Amino acid sequence: MSDATRPMPREQALSIARAFLPKRPWGNRYDYYYTQTKLRTDPLYPGVLAALRGTTAPVLDLGCGLGLLAHALHADGQTLAYYGVDIDADKIRRGQQIAARSGIAGARFEVVDLGARWPTHQGSVAILDVLQYLSHEVQAGMLQHVAGILTPGARLVIRSGLGDDSRRGRTTKVTDLLAHLAGWMQEVPKTYPTREGLETMLADAGLRAEFSPLYGNTPFNNWLIVAERG
Ligand SMILES: C[S@@+](CC[C@H](N)C(=O)[O-])C[C@H]1O[C@@H](n2cnc3c(N)ncnc32)[C@H](O)[C@@H]1O
Repeated sequence: MSDATRPMPREQALSIARAFLPKRPWGNRYDYYYTQTKLRTDPLYPGVLAALRGTTAPVLDLGCGLGLLAHALHADGQTLAYYGVDIDADKIRRGQQIAARSGIAGARFEVVDLGARWPTHQGSVAILDVLQYLSHEVQAGMLQHVAGILTPGARLVIRSGLGDDSRRGRTTKVTDLLAHLAGWMQEVPKTYPTREGLETMLADAGLRAEFSPLYGNTPFNNWLIVAERG
C-alpha cells in the first residue's frame, strides 16, 4: 500500500483529533473519539491530501460534516482557503467553532442542503462520502455545476462507496444504514453511484477522471476519484 492509501500516521491523527476535545474536561468527547477513530482507520484523508497537493485554488467541501478536511489540509501544510457546507446545522456550528479555535485562518462554513442548491465557488471541490445521500438526478446536476466552478489547475476529489453486488458493496450499504439508525447520520442513504454511472456523469460534465480503490484495510467499497476539466 502506498502512503496515500494508508490511514494517517498516529501522531498526526491524534494532534488533529485533540482539536475536537470539549472545552471543559466533563464535556462530550464524542467528536474527539469519532475523529480519532476515523483518522486512525480510514485512508480517506491521506488519499485526498495527495490528490490536492500541488494545487493552489480554494477548496469547496460539499457535505463537509465537521470540516475534518480543513484540519487535515492545515496539518499537511496545504494553506488552501476552505469553504465547507453541510445540511446538518449542528455539525456546521461545531465545525466552525473548532476551526476558529484551531487557528485555521479563513475557514468558512455554511448550512446548505445540496438537494436544494449548490454553492457558488471558484476553485477545487471535495465530495467525500456524500454522493450516496443524494438522488441520481441531484448527483448528476451537482457534478455539472461543479464542472463549471473548477478553475484551471483545480481538482475535483470525490471519495464514494460504489454500488455493486460485491461483499464490499453490501457492507458499505449496511454500515451507512446502521449509522443512520444509530443517530450518527441524520440523512438516509438514497443512491450509491455505480462506477459506470459515475463515469458517465463525469464525462457528461466534461471532466476527465481517474478511479482508484481507497478502502485500505476497511471492509468498504470506497473509491477515490480525481477529476479535472477535460
Ligand atoms: C459520511 S458524512 C461525510 C462527512 C465529511 N465529508 C467527511 O468525509 O468527514 C456525510 C455528510 O453528508 C452530509 N449530507 C447528507 N445529505 C446532505 C445534503 N442533502 N446536503 C448537504 N449535506 C448533506 C451529512 O450531514 C454528513 O455530514
